[in-house]
Parts: sequence; structure tokens; C-alpha cells
Amino acid sequence: MGRIGDASFEIPMSNRFEFLRRELAALEVSDSLRRLRRWPDPDGRGGGGGEGELISFASNDYLGLAAERWAGSDACPRGAGASPLVSGYTELHDRLCRMLAQWEQAEAAVVLPSGYAACCGVVATLPRAGDLILSDRWNHASLIDGCRLSKAEKRVYPHADLAAVEATLIRHRHEFEQVWIVTDGVFGMDGDIAPLEGLCDLADRHDAIMVVDEAHGSGVLGEDGSGACEDRGVRERVPIRIGTLSKAVGSQGGFVVGPQTVIDYLVNFCRPLIFSTAASPLVIATAIDGIRAIREEPWRRQRVRELARRVRGHLSLVDKGDSSGCVPIIPIILGSNHRAVHVAKQARQAGLFIPAIRPPTVPAGTARLRISLSATHRADHIDRLLRFLNGLPEVRQAASGNGQQPF
Ligand SMILES: Cc1ncc(COP(=O)(O)O)c(C=O)c1O
Repeated sequence: MGRIGDASFEIPMSNRFEFLRRELAALEVSDSLRRLRRWPDPDGRGGGGGEGELISFASNDYLGLAAERWAGSDACPRGAGASPLVSGYTELHDRLCRMLAQWEQAEAAVVLPSGYAACCGVVATLPRAGDLILSDRWNHASLIDGCRLSKAEKRVYPHADLAAVEATLIRHRHEFEQVWIVTDGVFGMDGDIAPLEGLCDLADRHDAIMVVDEAHGSGVLGEDGSGACEDRGVRERVPIRIGTLSKAVGSQGGFVVGPQTVIDYLVNFCRPLIFSTAASPLVIATAIDGIRAIREEPWRRQRVRELARRVRGHLSLVDKGDSSGCVPIIPIILGSNHRAVHVAKQARQAGLFIPAIRPPTVPAGTARLRISLSATHRADHIDRLLRFLNGLPEVRQAASGNGQQPF
């Protein structure tokens, strides 16, 4: 028997999927089962489980643009109606691409329906048979899936391990036509920045090509807000940069910026771009407005960076004295799934929504709370967050210097 609201109904063939149900039941036993929660708003306010008003530290709306009500163009078509190569690439898409290229100081840009499609598509398309991809172990699933689809050989290197990358390049560079070094700029579950300068040095020395996913960096890092590559002064050394329009930009979609030849190649060969309806013009219009806000309202990124420094300072996280301290993603590693789910529940009881992130999103044994900050958080929201965190033994232990630094 199934149920939607108050109505119950027979589900035909429900037993046919017993083999899947058993797997889900096993997930439930290990506190790994995930469920969709219904939120009244993308900023998570208003509760999703009957707990009443919650302050959300869950969304990637770092600048507060996604949750903002937008009274934009009423002359905008609802849908693109076709893939970009047929008739879905509208003047709005073209305008957004030109804005992105200018913002990112790149020759050209192209937009895809999601950041996932952009990451997966770039990595599946550009590295070809006879090439090698070097991919950070903690890269986002979209880059990993691109690796899986690519016909190139792949080596996954330990997280941020320059020595491992160098060793592979020294031993194997000559065996491959092209070598591609693929990394997140900011790692979404840990909030650390990739060693971009070191990777660029290795790429220069061994004739490899850098590809960086700026999903969590764009809009937040860099003088101009274009991301980790700008922040680390390596924008010109990373020829292919991928971003999402769904986090700081506050809309939906993904983009790639790079040399015109690379963008032309993607337009001709990148399957997620060619065989998917272009993003809705409505979404593109909100992305254009999001980029405008990022460029004209730097207070947003300054504010979220300040909040990140405050929370990190309170948690006694190591301050390297650089921009890594202002990344608005802060994990509190708790270990077991059970502990993470339990602490997330305590947080909700305290009026805070901080999601528990569990494997397979993060490695086994490192289940965590993932705090993400937004420019729209008020000082009293942060006070409440810090009061709650102070009550956790894991945080007290780390702050007193006893035990391992869990973050
Ligand atoms: C590092 C990283 N890359 C890519 C993506 C995919 O972006 P989108 O949500 O626009 O599909 C995400 C989204 O979670 C991400 O965290």
C-alpha cells in the first residue's frame, strides 16, 4: 500500500522491486538512508520535519541570491524548447556566455543545463584515448563520472598530494599524448582549497593541462569573485575552468570558460551539451542577474568571508593567514553515521538546520555536519550556531588542543 498525503492506494507490482527494497532497508539499519525533505523555501527556513522555524546552514546560496525574490523580466520565455545546437541557444544564453567570459577573463564560454553536466561533459569529452587523467581523490562526483565516461586512462591521486602527482608525471608522462590534471578548486565537503599553484607548476614542467571546477569558489573567492584560480593568482595558468550557476550565482546551470578552440570543440563533441535541452531562458535571466550582483555588490562576498573567518576562529581552526580561512564551508567531522545523524537531530531541536553528510558523499568513518554560510546570515544566527557547537564534545576537545583536530 502506498500513501500520498491522506490518500492510500495499491502499488502494482510492488513486490517486483523487493531486491531494491532490501538494499534500502540495509541502508536504514546503518543510518545511511537518505530521504527528500520538503522545504517551503530554498534557504531552508520554515522547517522540513515539523521542527518549526529553523536557521539553515545547509544551502550553497553563499551570497543569498538564490533565496532572494526576483522581479525580473516578464518578457522571458519559460523554456528553451530545444537543445542549443538546434534552436535552444537564445540571445539570453549568448549574453550570459559573453558575461561569463569577460568575468573570467577567458576567450569564450559555454553554458550547460547543470554544473554536473559541465564537469562530467568536459572530463568525458576533452581527454581522449591515449591520454591520461590525474584526478584528486576528493573530487566531486561529477568529475569522477566524467573520468568514468572518458576513454583516457585515469589515475586517482591522494587528496592534494603534489608529490604523488609529480611522481606519476615523472614516471609516466612520456606514455601519453596529453595529460589532464583535474581538480575541484574548493572541495565542497571539506572547504579546503586545492594546491593550485603547485599543480600549475607541475603542469608547466610536465606539459599537462589543468582543469579546475570552481563550483564552490566562484562568487566567493578572488578580488573579482571569479573563484579559487583568481584568488591564487593562477587564472591564466588554468586554461579550462568549470563553474556552476546554482550556488553563489543563485540560479541553475553550469558553464565552462576557456580558449575559443576548446569551447568550439565542446559545442561539437560534448554530449551533455549537445543532447540536452538548453537551460530555460528564465533560469538564464536569473543567472545574468546573479553575475551582475556578484560584480556590482562585492559586499556579499566580503560579508560571507567575514562570517567564515568568525566561525573558523571560534572553532580554533588553523588560520593559514590566507583566503582559505574565508571559505564558507566548514565541516565538523563526527565519525560514525549514527553520531552525525544524532547531532544533526540535536541541531534541529536547537533551531538549526545543519545537514549530516554521510558516505558515499564522504569517505567511510568521516560522517560530518557540513556548515555552509551565507551572506544573509545575521550575527544572532551565527551566535546561535556557535552556542550549539560549543556544546559538542568534538568541538570542545579540538578547541582545547586535546585530541586530534577533527576539522
Ligand atoms: C564541486 C562541485 N562540482 C559540481 C557540482 C554540480 O553542480 P550543479 O549543482 O550545478 O549540478 C557540485 C554540486 O553540488 C559541486 O559541489
